[in-house]
Amino acid sequence: MKKHIKKMDFERIRLLCDSLNLKRKLIPIGFGKEASIFIGFKKGSKNVSKPLILKVYRYYTSTTKQRLRNEHKLTLRDVAFISAKKEFWNLKELEAFAFSVPKAYDQRFEAFTMEFIGVQNDINLQPYPPLRYVDLNEFNEPIEYLDQLLELYWKLFTKMHMVHGDLSEFNILFDSENQSFIIIDWAQAELINFKTFSSTPVRIRIDQAWQMLVNDIAVILEYFLKRYKISFSLENVLHEFEKAIPSHLNRHFEPTFNRQRNYDLKTFFRFPK
Ligand SMILES: Nc1ncnc2c1ncn2[C@@H]1O[C@H](COP(=O)(O)OP(=O)(O)O)[C@@H](O)[C@H]1O
Ligand SMILES: [Mg+2]
Repeated sequence: MKKHIKKMDFERIRLLCDSLNLKRKLIPIGFGKEASIFIGFKKGSKNVSKPLILKVYRYYTSTTKQRLRNEHKLTLRDVAFISAKKEFWNLKELEAFAFSVPKAYDQRFEAFTMEFIGVQNDINLQPYPPLRYVDLNEFNEPIEYLDQLLELYWKLFTKMHMVHGDLSEFNILFDSENQSFIIIDWAQAELINFKTFSSTPVRIRIDQAWQMLVNDIAVILEYFLKRYKISFSLENVLHEFEKAIPSHLNRHFEPTFNRQRNYDLKTFFRFPK
């Protein structure tokens, strides 16, 4: 059975490569919770071909199964297709605002290609590491980087009216040369309706977005607290973000973090600023 699935996967990947005009030689670099990540190369180019990233959503993951529970008309394959399409168009949107993300190139079925984020020269092909595998102390004061990340999120929320929804130390790549971050994994990101207190087919309502923002910020603050002993108050940071919400929306809901997961709350109340 296992063998059978492997063979099917292999054929599927081959089909995706052909469809995206990629050479069939791929270098697997990551298996996240939802997708497989490969370094690939465009067909037609000779030896000197720029690497790109191929992200292939898998059909059978806990997340796709969970999503399917609410969507009775969809199959597992549909969910993978939708995720690829959604992440691809989110990246396009972010690129239009010059946000720090990989450029999206092309999308087919449950896969898409994007810019390779890493070191690439004659002898080296090394993706930039996720924040989780970097010791920021080797570069600068970690607090500077936390500031930088919060500023990125501020731009995302206030200028682009978006939330990420799955921010973590694994979805932030660190470019040590430029001392900057590139945020990845945008399938669950959402545009926010800043005009009216309602959801539209493309924009979610502000209170739903707020819950996603609270989670994203809490995960990052918690990571810097645990790893670098930097204690920013979640409450204070959220108060800053709250100011960006138009007052005619603000009065419809309480932008507090009461519904935050318990362990986050405990952590942050122990270390008030
Ligand atoms: N554009 C990219 N350039 C370099 N590495 C990447 C790129 N996209 C993803 N990766 C690597 O692959 C891993 C998984 O990618 P991600 O998009 O987070 O997939 P998942 O949705 O499965 O978590 C990342 O943690 C990162 O190390
Ligand atoms: Mg990820």
